[in-house]
Amino acid sequence: MSEKATLNYNGNTYEFPVITGSENEKAIDIKTLRSVTGGLTTIDPGYKNTGSCQSAITFLDGEKGILRYRGYSIEELAEKADFLEVAYLLIFGELPNEEQLKSFHVDIKNESHVDEEMKKILDAFPKSAHPMGVLSSLTSALIAFNPVSVNVTSNDEMYGAIVRILAKFPVLVAWTLRKKKGLPLDYGDDSLGYVENIHKMMFKKPTKEYEKNKIVIEALDKLLILHADHEQNCSTSTVRIVGSSHAGLFASLSAGISALWGPLHGGANQAVLEMLEAIEADGGDTKKYMAKAKDKSDPFRLMGFGHRVYKNFDPRAKIIKVAAEEVLNDLGIEDPILEVAKGLAKEALEDQYFIDRKLYPNVDFYSGIIYRSLGIPTEMFTVMFALGRLPGWIAQWREMRLRNEPIGRPRQNYIGENHRPFVEVAKR
Ligand code: SDX
Repeated sequence: MSEKATLNYNGNTYEFPVITGSENEKAIDIKTLRSVTGGLTTIDPGYKNTGSCQSAITFLDGEKGILRYRGYSIEELAEKADFLEVAYLLIFGELPNEEQLKSFHVDIKNESHVDEEMKKILDAFPKSAHPMGVLSSLTSALIAFNPVSVNVTSNDEMYGAIVRILAKFPVLVAWTLRKKKGLPLDYGDDSLGYVENIHKMMFKKPTKEYEKNKIVIEALDKLLILHADHEQNCSTSTVRIVGSSHAGLFASLSAGISALWGPLHGGANQAVLEMLEAIEADGGDTKKYMAKAKDKSDPFRLMGFGHRVYKNFDPRAKIIKVAAEEVLNDLGIEDPILEVAKGLAKEALEDQYFIDRKLYPNVDFYSGIIYRSLGIPTEMFTVMFALGRLPGWIAQWREMRLRNEPIGRPRQNYIGENHRPFVEVAKR
């Protein structure tokens, strides 16, 4: 017998179904709330208690620190899979066999050309432009050169749009970096792996052969897997709601990139590194910054700490912390910033303010240390987050479109002026 939730309001009693997800999560289905109660709605700033959809893509358990993509644990995927496999898994729901993976990669390689005219748009940006603004603009501009990717009404058209953006987005990421460095805009090499090719496009020196570095590629591949999806976070919810108006995939992704840019979200990985560098420059005075983070009159937050869902630990942060030490060691890099980070984390984890609020290191706390060791500039850190999140955004957008979900249009609770007559300007 299905469970019910009862609401007593205004002398009436209303019943609403309670739905149960595959991991036994319960939710009150309030689809009929407004109609059966004569207009009652809910209010939930930041949607801390409100689900926007049912989804089969990613499962998180914030209390147990569990993260799974289509049922596979993040620990296993980070250890045993590669990023292209994980992209296929997130988007299509199953790990690909060898033939499927090969054909997926061939389809992507066949779409890796970016129209030369796009370089004129890139050229219009000053070198000082933040890469996230450039990337969001270029992603939207891609629509003009790929109009068939807008009105996807069939599986083939949707598949075409998906492989197109998986092919072209890394080129835009590489061009955005190379523009900043004043380097020629390079193309990839079809003989390389997906992530290896991304690294080559980003870092190949104009006068030298591309140097493969297994440690660097494996670290980059693992970081991209760890960022690939995270259920209904701010930027993914943005991609879904923009897509719910039947705006195309590229337009929805461009909106998601802008949402990710915020320092409370993906922009935190850049903010963490800047914070750690400031602490180091300040003589490593972590106590001063801890005090600032706890001072309500100070807008400063300990960047890379806290999470809307994880109230125990972010499993990705645990994996990235170990990977950071391994990569720095393998590359023979001594980065004092890692020591500052570890000292700050230790202090915060023992501080009552942070313990009471269940604030732990999140995915952004250590990731910048690895990006830095791979030669990625700080301003590009959130671009790397977007590169990792791309398959998750695509998977969530595809799920929403295949389900033909209604356009997203939240209600509000009006607190403005009541009706009043217009007054001529001469009489105001
Ligand atoms: C990502 O949602 C996702 O899944 C996101 C993400 C993904 O993969 O998509 O995981 C990626 O965005 C990770 C988060 C990166 N952001 C940061 O590291 C920025 C610093 N952290 C925060 O600003 C904050 O913790 C959030 C935004 C992450 C979560 O904010 P919430 O859930 O809205 O929590 P809150 O702001 O209501 O904070 C609760 C309390 C408050 O204190 P009180 O008013 O109760 O006294 O905790 C305090 C906050 O002031 N607090 C912090 C803090 N984070 C929360 N205080 C100091 N430093 C912090 N970092």
